[in-house]
Amino acid sequence: MPFIHIPQPWQLPEREATSEGAFLNRRRFLQGLSGISIAGAALPLWGCEQQSEADQPIIGVQPLPASPNADFLQAGRPITNETLAATHNNFYEYGSSKNIWKNAQKLPLEDWKVEVTGLVSQPRTYDLADLYKFPLEQRLYRFRCVEAWAMVVPWLGFPMSAILKDVEPTPQAKFVRFTSYYDRTITKGPIFPPGDFLPFPYHEALRIEEMANDLAFFAVGIYGHTLPKQHGAPLRAVIPWKYGFKGAKSIVKIEFTDTQPETFWNTLSPGEYKFEANVEPEVAHPRWSQRKERLIASGSQFEWKEIPTLLYNGYGEFVGNLYG
Ligand code: MTE
Repeated sequence: MPFIHIPQPWQLPEREATSEGAFLNRRRFLQGLSGISIAGAALPLWGCEQQSEADQPIIGVQPLPASPNADFLQAGRPITNETLAATHNNFYEYGSSKNIWKNAQKLPLEDWKVEVTGLVSQPRTYDLADLYKFPLEQRLYRFRCVEAWAMVVPWLGFPMSAILKDVEPTPQAKFVRFTSYYDRTITKGPIFPPGDFLPFPYHEALRIEEMANDLAFFAVGIYGHTLPKQHGAPLRAVIPWKYGFKGAKSIVKIEFTDTQPETFWNTLSPGEYKFEANVEPEVAHPRWSQRKERLIASGSQFEWKEIPTLLYNGYGEFVGNLYG
């Protein structure tokens, strides 16, 4: 299977998103896990397609009214350009490059259901209409990827605590696990042959006190409309004081447990991706420092601004009490 990478004008080379060394190391890391050479491989043949309206990355979305939450009107940094945010994604079900937005359009949203189960008194299954019935808020949050890129995004959605109220976890419930949509015929993973070495479905988890914190958010929209598929439509987790990998996309199951669930990246590389995964500038990733981050600048072209990383991504006043 050939891999040809023809960059699009809007496309950022991955090596600019992460430091060169970290980028090559992550590739090597995945390569080591798979036993398959992916050096130089970035994309299947998408670059060969004709330019068309299919090159518009914000597609299949509907306007979504939401009230701005007064606590999150400002992020102390400019909002990231919407097109840049929609073309620079991590969604390993659809590939390991940042340029997965076209491939992610395969995600089927029809008849979406989110099952809430496990240690709860009122188990529930929500459909899309149920999700959009929650009182929706807009929150401008800082977003920090463990790879040291960062952005500022206006999410639309509802606090995770709204689900806690609905389903009433039992006293035994100590953790919550989120599972993303996975169908091996659609979400084929990053490489050919299919990336079976990755522990799909993508799964993440929080302590129940973290889920109850007012900052913990379920997004059903972004930039005034429903989520584009590449951002994790129709429902994704947003936990802004933690690294971005904690925010599972395209959630189909929410399960309450009494023991700490395994998580996707922690299972792959426990020394590098911790369960807690709070943004902490003084706790280096084993392969790169976390003291600085590279903010996607607010213009329409990719530009990076290096800025200091803030403890808990600057949300210490909301979450500091969780960590003593
Ligand atoms: N959720 C799923 N299902 N699959 C993924 O690969 N990547 C995570 C997180 N959620 C991921 C996921 C990582 S590493 C990051 S940084 C964010 O999604 C990226 O979110 P964005 O692409 O909307 O910016």
